[in-house]
Amino acid sequence: MTILKTVAEVREVVRRWHSQGLSVGLVPTMGYLHEGHASLIDKSAEQNDKTVVSVFVNPMQFGPSEDLDSYPRDLNRDADIVSAHGGNVIFNPEPEEMYHSDFSSFVDMTVLTDELCGLSRPVHFRGVCTVVTKLFNIVKPDRAYFGQKDAQQLAVIKHMVSDLNMDIEIIGCPIVRESDGLAKSSRNTYLNREERKAAVVLSETIKLGETLVKNGETDCAGILAKMKANIDKEPLAEIDYVKIVDASTMQQIEKIDRPILCAMAVYIGKTRLIDNFFTE
Ligand code: PAF
Repeated sequence: MTILKTVAEVREVVRRWHSQGLSVGLVPTMGYLHEGHASLIDKSAEQNDKTVVSVFVNPMQFGPSEDLDSYPRDLNRDADIVSAHGGNVIFNPEPEEMYHSDFSSFVDMTVLTDELCGLSRPVHFRGVCTVVTKLFNIVKPDRAYFGQKDAQQLAVIKHMVSDLNMDIEIIGCPIVRESDGLAKSSRNTYLNREERKAAVVLSETIKLGETLVKNGETDCAGILAKMKANIDKEPLAEIDYVKIVDASTMQQIEKIDRPILCAMAVYIGKTRLIDNFFTE
């Protein structure tokens, strides 16, 4: 397993692989890898001859008051995980390698991004679409792997790939959870012991919502009221949003009469965590 820091180095390695007829999978990450990322690397290693894992904390997708500086970083630990799961290359550029001083081109989306996380994090998806486009252009993967935990991100990337005719298959992979249900996230490391206990309220509430929907409840306001009441019982939790949206448009709906995404962002102390479930 090799760690590469420059675009030119990655291009050279991938050019060699392609000339040998080898397929390439890309797992874009911001590092501090956990079992969720490991499952994406496993899937890529299973479906492709070679796997590149990008580890880049992308400044463009963080708002001014967000956790860019404190975002956890540990490249040695990441390298062990990538290598144990069959990854071949880590692409770990410095911000200046990705964004030269005169950088001025962006990928923006006018649908799917005005709800859920896009509402609370206005610059977020522009940053994600721009960096993912750059990574796709650098690595030229056959397939790219994203977690379902960031369900809106996955939908946005699939839409972007279709809009811009990018010849890349986007594979979404299921949420990986801790034994008590908490969705794995690099941000879970911010939680102190008391907050970690409280954070289980997210997955418990997701389960509650899922059960209500499975049992045939179709009134979104009623389902959301019960879910919010459950979160409000946890003193350390503060709701950013809990919403039910049409899974293909990301717009809020009143009645469950089509595939939905039920998504939430909840602060546990200062840490903002997300979780979701969807129906097909
Ligand atoms: O999901 C993430 O970790 C990031 O948003 C991504 C896709 C790596 C882009 O920076």
